[in-house]
Amino acid sequence: MVDLLGSTKRTNKCGELRATDIDKVVTVMGFVSKYRNLGNLLFIDVRDISGLVQVSFDDSVDKAVFEKATTLRTEYVVAITGKVRSRGANINKNLPTGEIEILATELKILAEAETTPFEIKDDVKASETLRLQYRYLDLRRPQLQQILVLRDKISRITRNYLADHGFLDIETPYLGKSTPEGARDYLVPSRVHPGEFYALPQSPQLYKQLLMIAGMDRYYQIAKCFRDEDLRANRQPEFTQIDMEMSYVESCEDVMEVAEGLVKAIFSECKGLKFDGKFRRITWKEAMERWGSDKPDTRFGLELNNISDIVKDCGFGVFSGAVAANGAVRAINAKGLASKMTRKDMDAYGEFVKSYGAKGLAWAMVKEDGITSSFFKFLSEEEKDAILKKLDAQVGDVLFFVASDKKKVTYDALGALRCELANKYELFDKSQYDFLWVTEFPMFEWSEEEQRLVAMHHPFTSPMVEDFALLDSDPINARSNAYDMVINGQEAGGGSIRIHNPELQKKIFNLIGLTPEQIKSKFGFFVDAFKYGAPPHGGLAFGLDRMVMLVSQNDNIKDVIAFPKVQNASCLMSDAPSEVDPQQLLDLKIECSQEKKD
Ligand code: AMO
Ligand code: AMP
Repeated sequence: MVDLLGSTKRTNKCGELRATDIDKVVTVMGFVSKYRNLGNLLFIDVRDISGLVQVSFDDSVDKAVFEKATTLRTEYVVAITGKVRSRGANINKNLPTGEIEILATELKILAEAETTPFEIKDDVKASETLRLQYRYLDLRRPQLQQILVLRDKISRITRNYLADHGFLDIETPYLGKSTPEGARDYLVPSRVHPGEFYALPQSPQLYKQLLMIAGMDRYYQIAKCFRDEDLRANRQPEFTQIDMEMSYVESCEDVMEVAEGLVKAIFSECKGLKFDGKFRRITWKEAMERWGSDKPDTRFGLELNNISDIVKDCGFGVFSGAVAANGAVRAINAKGLASKMTRKDMDAYGEFVKSYGAKGLAWAMVKEDGITSSFFKFLSEEEKDAILKKLDAQVGDVLFFVASDKKKVTYDALGALRCELANKYELFDKSQYDFLWVTEFPMFEWSEEEQRLVAMHHPFTSPMVEDFALLDSDPINARSNAYDMVINGQEAGGGSIRIHNPELQKKIFNLIGLTPEQIKSKFGFFVDAFKYGAPPHGGLAFGLDRMVMLVSQNDNIKDVIAFPKVQNASCLMSDAPSEVDPQQLLDLKIECSQEKKD
């Protein structure tokens, strides 16, 4: 039998009671999280979002209430009224409420609970699969609740900051036309227009630019975005952006300054960080050359060294061949790690770089009694000496080398290896934060698959004025007004100054191989809008989920989302996606050519 709440009102949250509340009569409500019956004394912990408080029942105080308390089980929902008293000598120093307890004089059982499939506690042993299936129980864990509390705080700081800077919160449609972010779209069939589809937005990019053309001046939105792409530890098919756009800006710095201010507000309010001066600015070229990545983690060294000149004519064909093919040979020095690495490790790192497209990993270990290496035998004494000098190699160091005909492969492989080594051998303080901007991204990259140039950010990004001429002569080397904010080696956000001149926009579309017909059918409404006066504008979007991960130093994106999807984009709790009623398909005039795969 459960009780009605009736006129009972909560006076306090469980976690807020302190010694200063002693002798007050309070009413708390929550879940029973621990139950100990000592015969004539009974203790429970009651848990709500604010924390835990101990409640005691004493059969000499009220027999009926005590008897009722013996029927309690964990996760029952209760309302308890009683007097706050000191725990005397039994203080629990690990609990904020540890100095006090509530001596219960009234107990209402608001709901009973079956035994939960796993115990609700932070050091939970249950598998992630089971926890996601019962996500509403998983979310009862204080650790996950605190992340959602933090997420709410970050959203509020964001709203306040952007409102203070003149940004209007404007919603844009979910049912729209495909936007050009480059992933696959999630499509929604139209019943009224059989055979036609809406695309869920990959980002509100086109709409926010149209809002600038509409004269809204500054826009922001905490926007849901949908991308059908392969999931990783920091990717979800539906995720949230802090999306913003502003008018009357022409220089990247104008947008970066506002965006940087927001990040500083978030990290100072949530983590107490103090900032002096601007975040470091690193050009894309420097980022690739020194750290092998457009999202460098600069909390540790292990920088890349260019040894192409030294090995261009050497006897090791892999190296000289890569230089001849206009590729790249780069090396890193894992300082002092020789004693910690075995031959087996070398083989494992060899496999590791292969997953980034490298054909192999050459290495050299500098020891007291000389150098052991997978390839030094192919080099002349001068070449060896020059390499050791360039890498500042000392006894105890391990040197790693990657050569490839494609510069990107060399960068990717060594860029990833340096992070792997730094993490594995704990070469840096993980509690430190590393904020930086990467600027001057290339306008385009070459798509082998499509055999054409594609926009590196998106096709509305403006080229740097200095590189206008390159658009005709050497477009692959033209740089754009795009910028990414990188925090601890993760892309936290990115944006650009947009093109607002219709002629220039046409030129960029041409360069990425869009025909006038394709431009018209894909973005006709958008291109037309620029005919009626577009203020110079630019913007940026942060990944809110990633921001919460970074602030909470959590490396699993699922932990910062209330109801996340798993690797294969399904929801284990609701079982979405699922088959639908055949009538729904008939209404939509959709026929499935493939049976459901189990
Ligand atoms: P971009 O595609 O770089 O830019 O996305 C902006 C930020 O969104 C986050 N993000 C993701 N987070 C979780 N899961 C995903 N699948 C995912 N994909 C992206 C990243 C990223 O930095 N319209 C442009 C922005 C602009 O130009 O203003 C855009 O969407 O943190
Ligand atoms: P091999 O002569 O093929 O045994 O190669 C000698 C060493 O060079 C081995 O350690 C290989 O892993 C390494 N190696 C092979 N290809 C590359 C490459 N593209 N870049 C760097 N090292 C390589």
